[in-house]
This record gives sequence, structure tokens and C-alpha cells, in this order.
Amino acid sequence: MNNHQSNKEKDEIIKGHEYDGIQEYDNPLPGWWLTTFYGTIIFAALYYVYYTFMGGPTLSQELEAEMKAVPAVQSASADSNMTEDTLAAKFGDQNTIAQGKTVYVAKCLPCHAENGGGLIGPNLTDNHWINGQGTRVGIFKVISTGVTDKGMPAWEQMLKPEELTAVAAFVYSLKGTNVSGGKPPQGQEYK
Ligand code: HEC
Repeated sequence: MNNHQSNKEKDEIIKGHEYDGIQEYDNPLPGWWLTTFYGTIIFAALYYVYYTFMGGPTLSQELEAEMKAVPAVQSASADSNMTEDTLAAKFGDQNTIAQGKTVYVAKCLPCHAENGGGLIGPNLTDNHWINGQGTRVGIFKVISTGVTDKGMPAWEQMLKPEELTAVAAFVYSLKGTNVSGGKPPQGQEYK
């Protein structure tokens, strides 16, 4: 009611012109509306100048840039073109294995023991595997995705891609070394 009345009062201000008996109330647009309105005009001008004259990227250039980032993202997750052969080169490299040992000591030792003989987690130095078959891909995958309901964390998000490959290479190098005092074999034997 009050609102209505105060509007009414504002409406009473009449502009000084008259056409065929029609007069105009002086109702200025609200400040917030005008600010938004002029804002869009300024934005449009800047937008036009940037994308038309200042080398702002076109839609296809933006797409191209995003597509370039795709392979990096794909290779970070367990990628589909990973095979025994593609991993063999990396897994045979002594520097990679050494880097993997550093990661292992920092992250895996509490559950798999320093020598890989197993504690909470299974013995990694025998030829028995609960998950995968002890292949390079199998080991890489179980480390990446974990067996979270059995207490093996998924390391995909916690390690950098090269650390993941390195620690898998180290675990693969332990396979079949049968350290003394290790946990008894679990899972199936794969030679
Ligand atoms: C919190 C304890 C814990 C930590 C930390 C841990 N693991 Fe495990 N890991 C387990 C358990 C438990 C299993 C057995 C899962 C199952 O029963 O399927 C396992 C299984 C595995 C297996 C498969 C063994 C098999 O026989 O299938 C590999 C390989 C492995 N872990 C490697 C690693 C590596 C590499 C790291 C460090 C980056 C690591 N684990 C850290 C607890 C752990």
C-alpha cells in the first residue's frame, strides 16, 4: 500500500511537454537497471574489439587447444593402448625401477613390507596373484584402481603418472624373488 502511494507521488512529477493533450510523467529508470544496461554496452564493445581486432581466439582455435590437451589426460588414466610390449621398455629400465623403489618405500611399505614380503597386503615377491595375473598390465591396473573394499588404495589420483609406472615397474621386478620370511602365497599361481 505504502509502495503504491509513494509511486503515485513520484508519478505526480510531469514533464513540461504536451502533445495533443498527452503528457509524460517523469519516472527515471532505477540506477541498478541503468548500470546493468550500460555495462552490457561496454562489455559488447570490449568483446567485439578483443575478438575482432586483437587476435582473440576463434571457436575453432579454442577447440583445437582443448583437443591438444586430450592425449595427456588420456595417458594419465589407465589407457587402452597400454600393452605388455609398451610397458616392457619402461619396466626394464633400471632408473625407472629405482624411482619406483623410492615411491614404494614412501607409500607401500607399511602394508607390503620393505622387501615386498607382505604384511596387511599380500606378498608381492611370489608368483601368486589375487588380482590380475602378475602381468605388467595387471600389476599396473591393480595399483591404479586398487581393491578398495579389501584395503588396497587406488593410487591413480595420488601418484603422478610417471610415479605410477615406476612403482609398477618396481613391483614387477620383485615378482618371483620369493624373499625369506614373506607371507604365504595368496591367490592363484601364474608363471
Ligand atoms: C593400506 C594398506 C596398503 C597400502 C598402503 C598398499 N597396499 Fe597394495 N594391497 C593391499 C591389500 C590389502 C591388498 C590385497 C587386495 C585383495 O585382497 O584383493 C593389496 C594388493 C596389492 C597388489 C595385488 C596383489 C595381488 O596378489 O593381487 C599389488 C600389486 C599392490 N597391492 C601394490 C601396492 C603398491 C605398489 C602400493 C604403493 C603404491 C600399495 N600396494 C600400497 C594393501 C595396501
